[in-house]
Amino acid sequence: MEIIRIIRIMQDTSKGHLLHSRSIGFVPTMGALHEGHLSLVRRARQENDITVVSIFVNPLQFGPLEDFERYPRDIEGDTAKLREEEIDILFLPDTSLIYPEGFSTYIEVEKISEKLCGAFRPGHFRGIATVVTKLLNIVKPTRAYFGQKDYQQAVIIKRLVKDLNMDVDIVVCPTIREHDGLAMSSRNTYLNKTEREAATVIYRCLTEASDLIRSGIINGIYIKGLMHERLLKEPAVSGIDYAGVYDPETLDELLEIKGDALLAVAVKIGDTRLIDNMLVTTTKGR
Ligand code: PAJ
Repeated sequence: MEIIRIIRIMQDTSKGHLLHSRSIGFVPTMGALHEGHLSLVRRARQENDITVVSIFVNPLQFGPLEDFERYPRDIEGDTAKLREEEIDILFLPDTSLIYPEGFSTYIEVEKISEKLCGAFRPGHFRGIATVVTKLLNIVKPTRAYFGQKDYQQAVIIKRLVKDLNMDVDIVVCPTIREHDGLAMSSRNTYLNKTEREAATVIYRCLTEASDLIRSGIINGIYIKGLMHERLLKEPAVSGIDYAGVYDPETLDELLEIKGDALLAVAVKIGDTRLIDNMLVTTTKGR
């Protein structure tokens, strides 16, 4: 595994592989790698000749009051894990190289960036869209891999790739969960024991709502009400940013469930903000 820190070297290395008709699979991450990240890495390895993983904690996607400073960092542990996965290149750029003095271009994906998490984290998706565009320009992958765990992020990246005619396939991979259903996340390390146990309410809330929809209930507002009730019953839930039923493409709230539905939740457990989601596919015209 080669470690590259310089943008020009990463670009030239990718160009060399592409010139030899080798496909490049790319997994962008912010590190503190867990099995969720590694599932994307394995998929990228399976489907491509060359696998590139980036670790970059992107300051642009954190709000001023958010956890940028305390976001978990474990470069040594991550490097060991990636070596074990036998990836080809770890791209590890410094912030000063990604955002040099004078940097002033940003990518804004309208409408869908304002929904769900966007309403609570202003500038968050602008930061993500900007860094992902830069990383795709640097790594020049054939395919880039993202997790369904961050469903809105994946929808936004698909949109920007389409709108800007970028020549890359975006592959969205399933959410990897702990044994009790909690979606794996670098932020789970913030939870104390009580909070960790309480956090399982998110998955239970999603599965119960999914079961109700499958059993034929089509009233989105009713399902949303039940989801809120379920979450608020858990004392460790200190706040709900959103919980409900949404259109999987537009991310608009669904009053009536006619086809596929996205169940999505963002809650605070103590001081930790956790998100999760589940897609419910129904047979149309039920
Ligand atoms: P990060 O949170 O490190 O996640 C990197 C990738 O791993 C994302 O595509 C995310 O959806 C995926 N992922 C995280 N947890 C997962 C899980 N439990 N199961 C499956 N996939 C999971 O998302 C980011 O970083 C950043 O916003 C980034 C795209 C790198 C831009 O800075």
